[in-house]
Amino acid sequence: MPASVVVGLQWGDEGKGKTTDFLAEQVAMVVRYQGGDNAGHTIVSAGEVFKLHLVPSGVLYPHITSVIGNGVVVNPATLIDELDRLTARGIDVSRVRVSRAAHVIMPYHVALDRGHEARLGGDKVGTTGRGIGPAYADRAWRLGLRMGDLLDREILRSRLERVLDDRNATLARLDGVAFELEALIDQAAAWGDRLEVHLDDTTWLVQAALARGEHVLLEGAQGTLLDLDHGSYPYVTSSNAVAGGACTGGGIGPLQVDEVMGVMKAYATRVGSGPFPTELTDEIGEGIATRGNEVGTTTGRRRRVGWFDAVPLRFAVAVNSVSSIMLNKLDILSGIDAIRLCVAYDIDGQRVEHWPSSAELLARATPIYETFEGWDQPIHAVRALADLPEQARRYVTALEALAGVPIVLVSVGPERTQTIERAWRPMRRVAGARIA
Ligand code: GDP
Ligand code: IMO
Ligand code: MG
Repeated sequence: MPASVVVGLQWGDEGKGKTTDFLAEQVAMVVRYQGGDNAGHTIVSAGEVFKLHLVPSGVLYPHITSVIGNGVVVNPATLIDELDRLTARGIDVSRVRVSRAAHVIMPYHVALDRGHEARLGGDKVGTTGRGIGPAYADRAWRLGLRMGDLLDREILRSRLERVLDDRNATLARLDGVAFELEALIDQAAAWGDRLEVHLDDTTWLVQAALARGEHVLLEGAQGTLLDLDHGSYPYVTSSNAVAGGACTGGGIGPLQVDEVMGVMKAYATRVGSGPFPTELTDEIGEGIATRGNEVGTTTGRRRRVGWFDAVPLRFAVAVNSVSSIMLNKLDILSGIDAIRLCVAYDIDGQRVEHWPSSAELLARATPIYETFEGWDQPIHAVRALADLPEQARRYVTALEALAGVPIVLVSVGPERTQTIERAWRPMRRVAGARIA
């Protein structure tokens, strides 16, 4: 049995939560492989809205083991809060497993992230302020704490003694408040007491599931264009959101991945700073943001909105080995007269079709658009591609041609059921499958 990866193809918030929840019905295990509580994944099921930051989006199903893999950075306070909220809503969280090797976001990481952003002022990255960058930096510098460390006060003490003075010194320069060693040890040990029942060697858990022939789904956070290596650095997050991150952060080998489902929405959004060539600042963008409820799940910030950009799409399909696509939020485009689709950039007078990834080049890119006739009618109730308005089908066909891989699922509303399925099953590759 294979492992499948769900990966965002844009700047995050493509609807990965909906996609993972939709696919989770057919799998035994869902594994988050990178990021932290910077993510906000929304699931809508039977009118109930669940906003998840750390717990994988399969948790709503009782049959799923939900795994937070070694590649995730975990804020224990957020995780405990999320588990409590889910429990209060009747969701069984006893099958949530957390890697002992996952790194801990400590309170000083959060303070450093916020202090540093404040110092950058107008040049800030626009992070979610969750301590993601500092936690991953300490991991790479071998100065981090891992979830398993929370269970041993002596290990906690020795780890914190190595790093705390330096972090406090930096915080003092950023006008931040210092953290006290004993209080941090008490706090961390209390988190350990609470989370011990969830801690596990998740790599073996995932490998055992695959060996038993169970289907494992790996859920990415953020998106390809926010990837630390492949996005427009420095306006990126601090981990590998691409499908390759599922191997390093989820505990699987490359040949165990059988399917990579790319998730994208019918237009683009971006939260935080950084170049965004197709950004819309007019009333069309305002309308999309309002209808699409484009407000950050984690930060409450209004998301920037733009036309779909096919230049990074080709790049994202290649770098993730995307084998199929779920297209979300097609319903939000209803009522727009002329829909534009960016097929290339003009950079310094040259036509560019390759995603440059350089923030400096992207900032000089002017989109070259193709225009598509829009449609008026709402499409929330449509459940077959053939029943979509002809203009919507043309737009989907164009996106599919640009991507070069089949769009197998089209979402027309936030509800699990508001989904159009192609004739062949998702997550089961069929050579040469094309849109009907
Ligand atoms: P994620 O971070 O990729 O999981 O995406 P978010 O959950 O942050 O943002 C996607 C938002 O769009 C959520 O509020 C979803 O409930 C919603 N959503 C997902 N698919 C659709 C869709 O097809 N139509 C509409 N109207 N909303 C959708
Ligand atoms: P999901 O999983 C959209 C963005 C931030 C900022 C940059 C770096 O819901 O798609 P960080 O806090 O990670 O250091 O911020 O990345 N960002 C996201 N944007 N969706 C997300 O997650 C994001 N997670 C981080 O806005 O630009
Ligand atoms: Mg989100």
